[in-house]
Amino acid sequence: MLETVHVPLGARAYDVVIGTGLLTQAGRRIAPFLERQRVAIVTDSNVGALHLGALQDSLEADGIVSTCLALPPGEATKSWGPLEQTVEWLLSEKIERRDVVIALGGGVIGDLVGFAAAILRRGVRFVQLPTSLLAQVDSSVGGKTGINAPHGKNLIGAFHQPSLVLADTDVLGTLTSRDFLAGYGEVVKYGLLGDAPFFEWLEANGPALAEGDMAARVRAVTKSVQMKADIVARDETEQGDRALLNLGHTFCHALEAATGYSDRLLHGEGVAIGCAMAADLSARLGLSPQEDPSRIGAHLSAMGMKARLSDIEGDLPGSDALLDLMGQDKKVVDGTLRFILMRGIGDAFVTADVQRQAVLDVLDAAR
Ligand code: GLY
Repeated sequence: MLETVHVPLGARAYDVVIGTGLLTQAGRRIAPFLERQRVAIVTDSNVGALHLGALQDSLEADGIVSTCLALPPGEATKSWGPLEQTVEWLLSEKIERRDVVIALGGGVIGDLVGFAAAILRRGVRFVQLPTSLLAQVDSSVGGKTGINAPHGKNLIGAFHQPSLVLADTDVLGTLTSRDFLAGYGEVVKYGLLGDAPFFEWLEANGPALAEGDMAARVRAVTKSVQMKADIVARDETEQGDRALLNLGHTFCHALEAATGYSDRLLHGEGVAIGCAMAADLSARLGLSPQEDPSRIGAHLSAMGMKARLSDIEGDLPGSDALLDLMGQDKKVVDGTLRFILMRGIGDAFVTADVQRQAVLDVLDAAR
């Protein structure tokens, strides 16, 4: 059960291969990219314990020697210290300009390792082996790499496309249900931003997908990656359409900041809540059908996902404070907040034309 999505970016084009058993095929799939039979793998200790052995066995079977750095799991790893450690380690392992670095892990590892690869010797190639649903459908594709800053998430980074992405859907079976559903928040995002029939398909198939239906998982990942590839091909560096991929993210980034980037709110959970709030804002502004927010909320609730601010444990800052936290969002241009809104399910657009009070009303209503 394998699908391939091509990301057509000229000299930086690459394939995303999606399906079962890919970890055990990694050696033969990565071999064509190598100029010498040696790679460096960066992972985190949780993912490493589960999947590193299979990856290294597969590389070894193809005569590829590998060396590995396992970083601590968690968002705190996406910061200067672990970046420095990674780059220094790659240099100490004598990784050269023509070598390939492998990122084995979720979004944190993919973003950090991609950035390390972007700056090491002014750029070495890297391969993404995303192990979370979120990384498979979003962060491993499209070349956004980077780390967080005390000022906010993902504020330091570079566009650096991978040479290959292998999204092994078998590894999704090792995710906790919470992590899986957080990634599913990004899948829902694709339906909402550009494909109403896909959202409808998710309404019908989401529960089976969450329970482990592999054909449904492969289809959902493939569809999401195809949508992302189409958008990235049109707008690699986010001068326009790529901002659509940030549906729900203006709200999400404020909520993540308010919860200290902690386990209280996973990124994908924030995206799902943010999408629900973007739908509410769109309906309140009279841009989209009034029934859309409740339909979206119903699907998130049916999946057992967080859908409102009140689903986040503990106290949150007031709505004014949350709105101020949105001011650090990368979508701020000339000090004006930009939102991704919907004309309806499957029809998102970018706008800066939103009054502060309308956003406050949405934040108040979601409590
Ligand atoms: N995650 C949004 C993007 O890659 O543009």
